[in-house]
Amino acid sequence: MDLPEEAISDQVLLERTANSFYHYKDFCLQEIWKPRILKWKSLSTYQKQLIPWYEDYLNNIRDCIESNSIFYMNLLEKCVGIWGLGSDPNKWATPNNVDMGKTVSILNQIAREWSADCSEERDRFLALLKDFLDSKFPHDRRDVKVLVPGAGLARLAVDIARMGFSTEANEVSYHMIMVGQFIMDSGLQKDQVGIYPFVHSFSHHLNRREQLRRVNIPDINISEELGGKGLLSMVTGSFPDLYGPNTNIKQSDSYSNSAYIREIRARNRSTKDLVVTNFFIDTASNVLDYLETISHVLKDGGYWINFGPFMYHFEQDPQTEITADFNPYTGEVSNMFVTPLKGLELSHEDILSVASTKFPFKIIHEQSHISSGYGTNKMDISMQGYQCSFWILQKSCDKVNNNI
Ligand SMILES: C[S@@+](CC[C@H](N)C(=O)[O-])C[C@H]1O[C@@H](n2cnc3c(N)ncnc32)[C@H](O)[C@@H]1O
Repeated sequence: MDLPEEAISDQVLLERTANSFYHYKDFCLQEIWKPRILKWKSLSTYQKQLIPWYEDYLNNIRDCIESNSIFYMNLLEKCVGIWGLGSDPNKWATPNNVDMGKTVSILNQIAREWSADCSEERDRFLALLKDFLDSKFPHDRRDVKVLVPGAGLARLAVDIARMGFSTEANEVSYHMIMVGQFIMDSGLQKDQVGIYPFVHSFSHHLNRREQLRRVNIPDINISEELGGKGLLSMVTGSFPDLYGPNTNIKQSDSYSNSAYIREIRARNRSTKDLVVTNFFIDTASNVLDYLETISHVLKDGGYWINFGPFMYHFEQDPQTEITADFNPYTGEVSNMFVTPLKGLELSHEDILSVASTKFPFKIIHEQSHISSGYGTNKMDISMQGYQCSFWILQKSCDKVNNNI
């Protein structure tokens, strides 16, 4: 039986993601290790004697890459069947450089979300969020519906579910979904697995030990913490696509126009008490689509709580996409337009201004310049990090939006 086009492309994306995990070791040896061993070999005998330990150090780098690769092989062993992939990696679609880059960088994301090493950076937001939730929702938390879009590896969603709220994590990237699912559903004990997330980066190290440092994950026993309470669910797909209104947003790569999806969007209207965005809103090509979506999915009186920087992901992206209007009832398409992915990078103040004057939001709290790392090696000696904004907006009952 032929699969519909959408299903085929999802299948290809899954295969490319799985294949990028499969080829992690070859890629790193080729791109990271080999140039350095060649550099070492190119040194004069005299210079080699100045840093005689260097070759051992490179061997240690290779061992760390090997260990990370074992993590990915274990993941594949567990996930290939679950995701309905064929068992022969040679038959999977070929990953591109972006896929491979994600497979390397997601090791930092694992440390950010699931290691004690990064608990301090996670707490920057978690402490603020917890204060608000404790004051507003002291009881009956199971009845409070929370949505976490751009959930990454789902740590924040797990933390909110641990506080007793019914939590839905939404994520679009198969890299994130596969790794997150592996970490959460494999019955891992606290600190059971070691990874080497900092091994791929050769700058900003105080010493070599810090680059080669093992980070243990997960920092909690996840299944014990969630304890079969049924408080956490994961939804795969683009946030505006699944939770946005059927009007006011143009059809695009991240917002489709099938009758099936239009029906899901209509059903999701006014269903959530809280939308919690963490390092997410700057992932938008059109941040107004995110505002429309948050406004659509929140119940009247519901809250949007946001934390993160304004490092717009598409700011430097030269690519375009086709956007178009469509009839929300028939799906008929008009006004197709070649649209740059970059070009709508609204600031903190712009967003709060439009949210509170053109959308039905009231500003409850607003803060800026909260410094935070992001998957940062705590021994890093650079000044890297972000100045984050934090706000709480409430969807106001007297400014109700009638989108379908
Ligand atoms: C910078 S990461 C933040 C992850 C997590 N919230 C955290 O704080 O660690 C942004 C996440 O948003 C996801 N994302 C980007 N666009 C999305 C969309 N349209 N719908 C859902 N998720 C999206 C990315 O795949 C990525 O996992």
